[in-house]
Amino acid sequence: MGKLRKAEIAIIGGTGLEALLKSTKQILVETPYGLLPPTSVGKIDKKTVAFLPRHGIHHSVPPHQVNYRANVYGLHKIGVKRITATNAVGAINLDFKPGDLVVPHDLIDFTRCRQLTFYDETPVTHIDVSQPYCPEIRGLLIEKAKEFGVQVRDQAVLVCTEGPRYETPAEIEMFRQLGCDIVGMTGMPEAVLARELEICYATLCFVSNLAAGMQRRLTANEVVEVAKQKLPIMQQILREAVKHLPEDRCCPCAHALRDARLRG
Ligand code: HPA
Repeated sequence: MGKLRKAEIAIIGGTGLEALLKSTKQILVETPYGLLPPTSVGKIDKKTVAFLPRHGIHHSVPPHQVNYRANVYGLHKIGVKRITATNAVGAINLDFKPGDLVVPHDLIDFTRCRQLTFYDETPVTHIDVSQPYCPEIRGLLIEKAKEFGVQVRDQAVLVCTEGPRYETPAEIEMFRQLGCDIVGMTGMPEAVLARELEICYATLCFVSNLAAGMQRRLTANEVVEVAKQKLPIMQQILREAVKHLPEDRCCPCAHALRDARLRG
């Protein structure tokens, strides 16, 4: 394990994506919330990028047990200002199908038992999530996917459930009626924790299955199979998006705390 190194950009996702980085070192990062899974730091083009395997390097941490606060805080600690995540999701929208790439623009939090904020004490902080995902990173993910000739869904509402079980058909029907397009177990509170630390955050999702009730039964293995198929194109899109991120941030994320606290 190497000594702590700095990175400006991070990718949070499943195993396999670390292959994106050149000349990687593994680092161990400690935070007041706990330890991060072994994180790789390496290069994409001239940029120093960290890769954090959300479920650990051997995929041993289930979605509801991921230490989201440690992960986001740890990335902040090593200097990260932008995070691009990846998530496997089920399709709720009847037009979406397995294999589709989706860059959601909004989300609904249906998690129940997760540590959801860095601001449990004073100063009382109400972060604005009118635009939950960074418009700059979203724009680049969509643009680069299109440049590769890949169809990408650029408007979608992601609902995050607690897991680790899949949903019931009635839950999926309810989510559909609420306007949700895709369902996953790891989108929250990651996105909001990033905003609380003024880190830009967006996610590139791939549809691994039709949600419950839309197919006979759901298996964890179909998620893995689609993940394997989509890995190469997701790597290409992420690499190009990271390469083209401008030095300066021109999005509201960087000033998220400015109007989030009550004036005393
Ligand atoms: N539900 C919740 N999480 C998921 C699904 C799903 O259908 N597919 C992949 N992650």
